[in-house]
Amino acid sequence: MASVSYFNEQKINEASHLVVFSAIDNIKKFEEQIEQNLPEGAVGYYKQFIKPKPESEIKAWLQHQVYLSLGFFLSASASLEIDSTPMEGIQNEKYKEILNLEGYKPLFAVALGYRNPNDANQPSTKQKSRLALEWVIESI
Ligand SMILES: Cc1cc2nc3c(=O)[nH]c(=O)nc-3n(C[C@H](O)[C@H](O)[C@H](O)COP(=O)(O)O)c2cc1C
Repeated sequence: MASVSYFNEQKINEASHLVVFSAIDNIKKFEEQIEQNLPEGAVGYYKQFIKPKPESEIKAWLQHQVYLSLGFFLSASASLEIDSTPMEGIQNEKYKEILNLEGYKPLFAVALGYRNPNDANQPSTKQKSRLALEWVIESI
């Protein structure tokens, strides 16, 4: 997979683990899954508020759920003192082929491992770039 990950090749080859996050891409399959696994109320929410939307919006909604889990995954890794690099710079179609993912679309991968002080993403090499707090948080 490293060889189909653009400029991320080295990061993947040097990582301890690579976790690939994929979104379900088959709405019928998703609906069968929730019918079988979720309480009636949750299925009702989907049917009332999500299902009537166009297919592209339903798929975007499904993908948002996976990005929510990325936030938690990164914090959880940090709390275990494991460094992580989330990477959207991957060839999604090639990942799908390699992993033989039927009905799922790979969105991004996260390389995990102990810190490499020479990694190009380290703050010592690449300074953090942050907007001022008052630009991003509005107190009302
Ligand atoms: C969704 C997402 C995709 C990213 N894709 C890549 C990537 O393909 N390659 C990479 O080196 N960094 C990528 N990054 C950036 C780094 O993994 C990491 O977030 C950054 O180095 C740490 O800086 P920050 O604290 O400003 O996020 C991505 C970050 C996010 C949130």
